Amino acid sequence: MNRPHHPPLPDGFVWGVATAAHQIEGAVDEDGRGPSVWDTFAARPGTVRDGHTGAVACDHYHRYAEDVSLLQALGVDAYRFSIAWSRVQPSGSGPVNSRGLDFYDRLTDALLAVGVTPVPTLFHWDLPQALEDEGGWLHRDTAARFAEYAALVADRLADRTQRWITLNEPFVHMAYGYALGVHAPGRALMLDALPAAHHQLLGHGMAATALRDSGAAEVLLVNNCTPVRAAGPTAEDRAAAEAYDTLHNRLFNDPVLLGRYPDLSVFGAGEDLRGAVRDGDLDIIGAPVDALGVNYYNPTWVAAPDGPGLPFAEADVQGYERTAFGWPVVPDGLTELLIGLKDRYGAALPPVFITENGCSQHDVVTDGKVADPGRIAYLDGHVGAVTEAVQAGVDVRGYFAWTLIDNFEWAEGYHQRFGLVHVDHVSQVRTPKDSFAWYRDLIAAHRRAH
Ligand code: NOJ
Repeated sequence: MNRPHHPPLPDGFVWGVATAAHQIEGAVDEDGRGPSVWDTFAARPGTVRDGHTGAVACDHYHRYAEDVSLLQALGVDAYRFSIAWSRVQPSGSGPVNSRGLDFYDRLTDALLAVGVTPVPTLFHWDLPQALEDEGGWLHRDTAARFAEYAALVADRLADRTQRWITLNEPFVHMAYGYALGVHAPGRALMLDALPAAHHQLLGHGMAATALRDSGAAEVLLVNNCTPVRAAGPTAEDRAAAEAYDTLHNRLFNDPVLLGRYPDLSVFGAGEDLRGAVRDGDLDIIGAPVDALGVNYYNPTWVAAPDGPGLPFAEADVQGYERTAFGWPVVPDGLTELLIGLKDRYGAALPPVFITENGCSQHDVVTDGKVADPGRIAYLDGHVGAVTEAVQAGVDVRGYFAWTLIDNFEWAEGYHQRFGLVHVDHVSQVRTPKDSFAWYRDLIAAHRRAH
């Protein structure tokens, strides 16, 4: 299948792909890098499927030139990657480890040399372990440390980098890392994890100021957003859906776009998020962002809980195709999400970038090729969904597919393949999949149409 289309996306629309440091780099002991929470967590038996770790990952630290060539062949405008804090500051504070920063300097230059715009994310879940030992994102000081780190990185890269992302998916980091304990740092605090939301958002706001002071032109936050659908028509199901929407979406979008937290009383929390919020914090968090990054994978169906505890229960839904991860494939959920953001935030919604979207499939290399029609259909459907949202008046400026290369999928280890490029995790051989050619042709067709 090879049918590039979706012409109505505007001129200047940014096509990209995304990755994250700990999922691809490996080289965890090199050039002075300090340990991060993901090194510690994955080393604990029973945390990551089959005991996989990110110690080698895609060996991108050594093979970045090859990966940049793949980006060039793909023809993307931009590449979203993340910077490993513990390479820049091995223990999360104090002087810069320039050898660590040198890597991102080389990567930035290599990207620019082939006409690909670097879009770095400063935090994609790999907190320096030394900061976790002080309480991690439950500890207010981590926000200030994050802003210092942001300034160090910007001092080096802002001369060649205009667009910056502070945090990736603070909801998922709070929920999986601090509430449920299925991601690093592996704390299972349930709603006592709420301060980790506030401190991440405060870190975003403080880092945004630091980035601008260092010459950054544009600052974004990336949120994982999901349209929430009530599993049934009852008032209880609808109330549960609203509660879930508040926790997953509004808790992270409202303070940034509106300068206030949503009502969390259904979670037994007041406006101070269990004592974490201080005077002036919301002014810092609510300072305007230049765009909002939205990661979308699927909608969430929610039903009333059947017992005490959380005010919602995630519901199973039938009738959709599933990815290898078991996630339902629902492209129109992305249109619904984008129009929903515009309806909710109105003029307070800045331009949006889809900063991640993609699917895992059971991909195998046969005669040097990987046929992945399911991924092509997934991406095609979701780009179409973005097109519809744009036609409905949502200002979407770009789309980044997740992800360039098959990589370390957190608690799933190497079992979920999301890449446009297949990686043999023993030989490190990269094999572009059919979806790679499809995306390349889509981008080329878009350029020709403008
Ligand atoms: C979102 C996360 O940012 C990314 O790290 C992860 O691999 C994808 N979702 C797929 O689960």
